[in-house]
Amino acid sequence: MSHTVQQWLQTARQQLAQFVPPDEASMEAQILLMHVLSVNRAWLIAHATDNLTDMFIPKVESLLQRRLQGEPVAHILGSREFFGLVLKVTPDTLIPRPDTETLVEAALEKINGRMRVLDLGTGTGAIALAIAKHAPACEVVAVDASASALAVAAENAATLQLSNVQFLASNWFAALHASKFDLIVSNPPYIESNDPHLQQGDLRFEPMSALASGVDGLQDIRQIIAQAPDYLHAGGWLMLEHGYNQAEAVQQLLHAAGLQQIQTLHDLGGNPRVTLAQRQTTE
Ligand SMILES: C[S@@+](CC[C@H](N)C(=O)[O-])C[C@H]1O[C@@H](n2cnc3c(N)ncnc32)[C@H](O)[C@@H]1O
Repeated sequence: MSHTVQQWLQTARQQLAQFVPPDEASMEAQILLMHVLSVNRAWLIAHATDNLTDMFIPKVESLLQRRLQGEPVAHILGSREFFGLVLKVTPDTLIPRPDTETLVEAALEKINGRMRVLDLGTGTGAIALAIAKHAPACEVVAVDASASALAVAAENAATLQLSNVQFLASNWFAALHASKFDLIVSNPPYIESNDPHLQQGDLRFEPMSALASGVDGLQDIRQIIAQAPDYLHAGGWLMLEHGYNQAEAVQQLLHAAGLQQIQTLHDLGGNPRVTLAQRQTTE
């Protein structure tokens, strides 16, 4: 049966709306069709009444079926855009989230000149690569405990031709020895291990090691904050993404670690999402 672009989008939207909100259903239907046709949104609008070529229908239908089975759009496409960069994404990596752009913006505000920056738990390389791209004089070190995530991150750096990032396998700071940094950023795992959301939506398809962090969700944040001062230059900054309800606990941990100028920033949805603190400026 032949479909116009508009008809296919409408049918797909109705099916997707059974398990995602209507605006997301509409966007996801468009994304799948744009991917198969290799066109942009303006093309879909301009060609709404064109018939879809027969060869494309089975392709886009098979992607739609995968999505209807729950597979994340980023896994179906194999990529996700983050801070203007198109990043390869696999089931070994967290899918970069728009909320994390708040952390990148805060980092870029603190950076001036040739700073040394550390990204702990780099995943696809999202934060490290966004910083490397927008602060090209910086030297960025990006670590992860997952060798397969690091391989994806290194591939993303090569594709984006960003050579000011070095990737390292490390359990948080363990492989960094005596290195010191001007800025340490991290979006660590911070979900409570028994949170039912881990069994829902896209989270079911992402690595548990990228998401969950002990019964209170703070196990990794606690370890990072306790060790960070040893790896910061005097006056250096630590910036952490955390859950919407964790700001107070993170502030207390930063205070207990002797860090100063503690401040929490909100994401685009208005949730407290990033907390930063400074190592004292004189030894
Ligand atoms: C929430 S994901 C963040 C990924 C990426 N930075 C982003 O924002 O999209 C957390 C990352 O921390 C890594 N990770 C978990 N435990 C770790 C550890 N002990 N040492 C280093 N990395 C770890 C995971 O493999 C995962 O890539």
